[in-house]
Amino acid sequence: MRKITVIGTGYVGLVSGTCFAEVGNRVICCDVDRNKIERLRRGEIPIYEPGLEELVAKNMQQERLYFTSEVGEAIEASDIIYIAVGTPMSDTGEADMRYVMSAAKKIGEHLNNRKIIVNKSTVPVGTAELVREVVQANKKYPWITFDVVSNPEFLREGSAISDCMNMDRAVIGSDNAEAAKVIAELHAPFNTRIFTTDLESAEMIKYAANTFLATKISFINAIANVCERVGANVIDVAEGMGLDSRIGNKFLQAGIGYGGSCFPKDTYALAHIADKAGYDFELLKSVIKTNQRQRFIIMDKLRESVGGLAGKQVAVLGLAFKPNTDDMRYAPSLSIIPELLKQGASVRAFDPIAVESARRELPHEVQYFKSVEQAVAGSDVCVILTEWKDVLDMDLDLIRQIMKHPIVIDGRNCFDLQTMQRSGFEYHSIGRASVNAAGRDRHSVNF
Ligand code: UDX
Repeated sequence: MRKITVIGTGYVGLVSGTCFAEVGNRVICCDVDRNKIERLRRGEIPIYEPGLEELVAKNMQQERLYFTSEVGEAIEASDIIYIAVGTPMSDTGEADMRYVMSAAKKIGEHLNNRKIIVNKSTVPVGTAELVREVVQANKKYPWITFDVVSNPEFLREGSAISDCMNMDRAVIGSDNAEAAKVIAELHAPFNTRIFTTDLESAEMIKYAANTFLATKISFINAIANVCERVGANVIDVAEGMGLDSRIGNKFLQAGIGYGGSCFPKDTYALAHIADKAGYDFELLKSVIKTNQRQRFIIMDKLRESVGGLAGKQVAVLGLAFKPNTDDMRYAPSLSIIPELLKQGASVRAFDPIAVESARRELPHEVQYFKSVEQAVAGSDVCVILTEWKDVLDMDLDLIRQIMKHPIVIDGRNCFDLQTMQRSGFEYHSIGRASVNAAGRDRHSVNF
C-alpha cells in the first residue's frame, strides 16, 4: 500500500487515481476547483465514463479514495505525487503548461519529506527538467530531496477503466533507478509490461504514440478518398491491409476524421515541438490537414445528395467525438453543424449522452431530440457523425418510412452496402460506392 496524491481530477487524474485505489493504495485526488471536489465527494462524477461512478463510490466507501481542494495538505500527506492536470492547446497550437507549472510550484512549497513527483500529463519533452527546477526553486526546506519521473497515460475515453486496469504497457521515464522501481512496483497489480527509459524518451513516447495513431487514421481516410474515385471499397482495403501483422487491423476505420481531447492537441503540439527543435515535420502537418479536410467531405456529399442545403431539414445522428463519451472536444459535429446552419439548413440532432455538453458549444438554433426516430422524422436527409449503438441498431424500415426523403450520409460507415440497398435508402458513406444514387455517383452500385 502506497500513499499517493493525484493533482487534477480530469479524465486522466480521476481514472488513474481511482484505479490506484482499487488495487489497494490510499489515494487523495485533489483539485483547485472546489465545486468539482464538492460534487465528487457527493459521488457525482463530472464526466460520463462507463463504470467510473461505481468504482469511485466503492473506493470512497472502503476508505482508500479521498477528494479535497486543499492541494497543499494533500501533497504533504503522500510520498508519491502524480501531476495529472490539463495541458490544453494554446492559441499557437502549443501545449499550455500553466497548470503543470503551478502544480510544481505548489509541490515545492509543500515538500515536507522525500517524495517522488510523477508527471502523467502530456507535456513537451524537457518538462520533467522544468518541473524539477520549479520544485527546487520553491522548496521551503532546502535539505529535502525529491525525484521526478515521467509516467504517461494511454487510456481512451469510453473504456478508460478497463484500459487502466489492463494497460498494454506502463512507460516509466527516470534518471533514478530507485524511483523508477517504486513506480514500476505500483503498476505490478495491473499485470502489465513495464518499459523503463530516460525522462525525455518517456515524454516523447506519448506524443509519438498518439500522433502515430492519428497518422493511421488520416492515412486510411486519404485511402478512402482514393477508393471512392476508383471504385474500391475502403472496408475491404483496410481488412486486407490489416491482415499483414506488420500493419495490424486497428485504427484503420475510415470516417470523418479524429476528434477528442488528445489527437488534435497532440498532433499540433508535436509539430510545434519539432519546429522549435529545427525540424519541419511535414508528414505530421499533412496528417492534421487531411483530418481537417475530411470533415468537409461529408458536407459536399450532403449538399449534392439534396441539391443544395437551403431550407432543408437535416437530422444529425451523434454529436460526441466518438461513442460512449459525452466529450465534445474537437468533435467533428462542432465544425459540421455550424456549416449546415450557415448554408441555410435546419438541424435536428440526436445524441444519447452528449446533448448537455453539446448545447454549450453549438448554436442555439439546433433542435435536440431524445431518439433517432424523433430526429429523423420528416427530414430531407440524415447524416451519421458518431457510431452510437442507438444508430447501429436503428430500425431501417421505420426510418425509411418516417423520413421525407430516405437519404443517409454515413460519416462512420455503420452499415453494409447491401443492407442499405435492400432497405431502399440512397446511401453515401466514406470510401465506398454509393447505393441507390443512380446518375449521381459514377461508382453507384446495384447488387
Ligand atoms: C486517444 C488514444 O487512443 C489514447 O491512447 C490516448 O491516451 C488519448 O487519445 P481517445 O481520444 O479517448 O484516446 O479516443 P480514441 O478511441 O483513440 O479515438 C480518437 C478519435 O479517432 C475518435 O474521434 C475516433 O472516432 C477516431 N478514430 C479512431 C477513427 O476515426 N478511426 C479509427 O480507426 C479509430
